[in-house]
Amino acid sequence: MEDKPDFSIVLDSKVIGGISGRVDVQNETGELGYSIGRSYWGQGLMPEASETVVDWAFEELVLAKVLAGADLRNIGSQRVMEKLGMTREGVLRSHGKSEVGNGLTTSITTSFARSGSNADDGET
Ligand SMILES: CC(C)(COP(=O)(O)OP(=O)(O)OC[C@H]1O[C@@H](n2cnc3c(N)ncnc32)[C@H](O)[C@@H]1OP(=O)(O)O)[C@@H](O)C(=O)NCCC(=O)NCCS
Repeated sequence: MEDKPDFSIVLDSKVIGGISGRVDVQNETGELGYSIGRSYWGQGLMPEASETVVDWAFEELVLAKVLAGADLRNIGSQRVMEKLGMTREGVLRSHGKSEVGNGLTTSITTSFARSGSNADDGET
């Protein structure tokens, strides 16, 4: 099984964005990252596209948990995670570098996750 599945988001035969995954088969977890062209922001396209990937991860890969991370200042990305039914699990400060605004800055990474029906965390 592919442990780094990549998906393109296609609209009217044009690739407008992508979703990349990283699957840890042994631990039954997966992480996704995503990006869509600026002119397509704010139309709910990424939540729609990434929901398909999250559903696939739970149903076909039978993962226990799907995670996503974003810089704490990237409100748009965190909104996508919330729309995916994910909840915030933690905040990691000075966690490498990330692109915020016009340049690279020290990252404050926030991690979101959603558990699958086979998760054993006492919450599902
Ligand atoms: C983050 C991103 C994936 C959101 O995708 P999207 O298809 O625009 O998602 P939505 O339409 O649901 O919008 C999500 C949020 O983005 C923000 N947003 C929407 N339009 C925006 C715009 N024109 N400018 C800035 N932020 C905007 C809003 O906070 C919105 O939340 P709301 O619906 O509660 O108002 C997209 O902005 C993107 O690709 N950004 C650049 C790459 C990136 O940040 N990737 C994630 C790295 S962790």
